[in-house]
Amino acid sequence: MAAAPETTVPETTVPDSTGPDTTGPEAAGAGAPAPGGSPLLSVRDLAVAFRTRDGEVPAVREVSFDLARGEILGLVGESGSGKSTMLTALMRMLPRNAAITSGRVSFDGVELTALRENGMRRLRGDRIGLIPQRPMTSLSPATPVGRQLRWHLDGLDEDGRLRELLAGVGLGAVLDRLDGYPFEFSGGQLQRLLIAVAALGKRPDLLLADEPTTTLDATVQAQVLRLLLELRDRMGLAMVFVTHDLGVISQVSDRIGVMYAGRLVEIAPAGALFDAPRHPYTRALLEAIPGRRRRGEPLKAIPGTVAGANRLPGCPFAPRCAAVVDRCHEENPEVREVGESLVRCHRAEEDR
Ligand SMILES: Nc1ncnc2c1ncn2[C@@H]1O[C@H](COP(=O)(O)OP(=O)(O)OP(=O)(O)O)[C@@H](O)[C@H]1O
Ligand code: SF4
Ligand SMILES: [Mg+2]
Repeated sequence: MAAAPETTVPETTVPDSTGPDTTGPEAAGAGAPAPGGSPLLSVRDLAVAFRTRDGEVPAVREVSFDLARGEILGLVGESGSGKSTMLTALMRMLPRNAAITSGRVSFDGVELTALRENGMRRLRGDRIGLIPQRPMTSLSPATPVGRQLRWHLDGLDEDGRLRELLAGVGLGAVLDRLDGYPFEFSGGQLQRLLIAVAALGKRPDLLLADEPTTTLDATVQAQVLRLLLELRDRMGLAMVFVTHDLGVISQVSDRIGVMYAGRLVEIAPAGALFDAPRHPYTRALLEAIPGRRRRGEPLKAIPGTVAGANRLPGCPFAPRCAAVVDRCHEENPEVREVGESLVRCHRAEEDR
């Protein structure tokens, strides 16, 4: 196993921000009390499965974590690790062929898994906002963009608010083009329109953001991230923020969760995760960041793929793990607390 990676993280231009104190070991805990009283969101043993022609395919398993008011939890993990499925499950907006198969999700004391659809509809948008991964799929292609924005802003002072919302995401210039259809806007513009609606529209308490800045260029990305951090500081907006960009996540997150094959394999305060990653998969992800390698060193890729990870007994990461031992092939590791991290690895306590 390679030595622990250096502590440097890729640079972004996001300003400092003050979140809740999530630096203590309790704050790091999936299942541990959130800092500052009762958590806003509490997820316990969440599992989601898809029904496919080949039978039931689990996409999320045994996921537990708490989120405090005003806290930002970053989520990372390879493609297919279950990040989007988890966010859409929290919103109860799963596709028809998917269902929550077990677990509980409590939002501000309300059990979401037991809530009727009309109760859930009231929470969506008003108190929980979702920025979907693919903006095009959440807009109707045949309806002018302005009309769709007004649906989402239902009941608000429309024109003044619309102007304010679009200015907030650097889109003041498209105000006179809102009678255009989605295909007349760039992917980045549509993404920002959805960010404006989800984060600013009805001022939710919780924002679930699925790769919200992936399609944006660096300047606009910094502007949007600054806006989200400002909303957190000013209004206590809590966020689950999914991204592949570890530079962005290190700058915006109080804690970071790492997903592999549907499981949360490590969750820790952002500093601890970068300085002392405990799970071999987290280490491998950090070693694959171009900015962290020494000049002349080849980029490290993680061998193999996540496909079929859950078909074998034992730890799902075993076929790809540089630290694998016999026990890993037989026993799936439970969550254990090591320093400030909660980790699913038999060897998490070892100083490798
Ligand atoms: N509609 C679907 N039908 C069947 N399986 C699905 C469907 N959508 C997702 N899955 C499966 O669920 C798992 C999790 O997918 P998900 O989209 O949540 O991953 P992700 O971590 O968001 O990936 P990415 O980083 O590529 O967005 C994957 O194995 C995927 O193949
Ligand atoms: S349990 Fe074993 S295979 Fe799984 S991550 Fe830890 S060392 Fe690797
Ligand atoms: Mg996704």
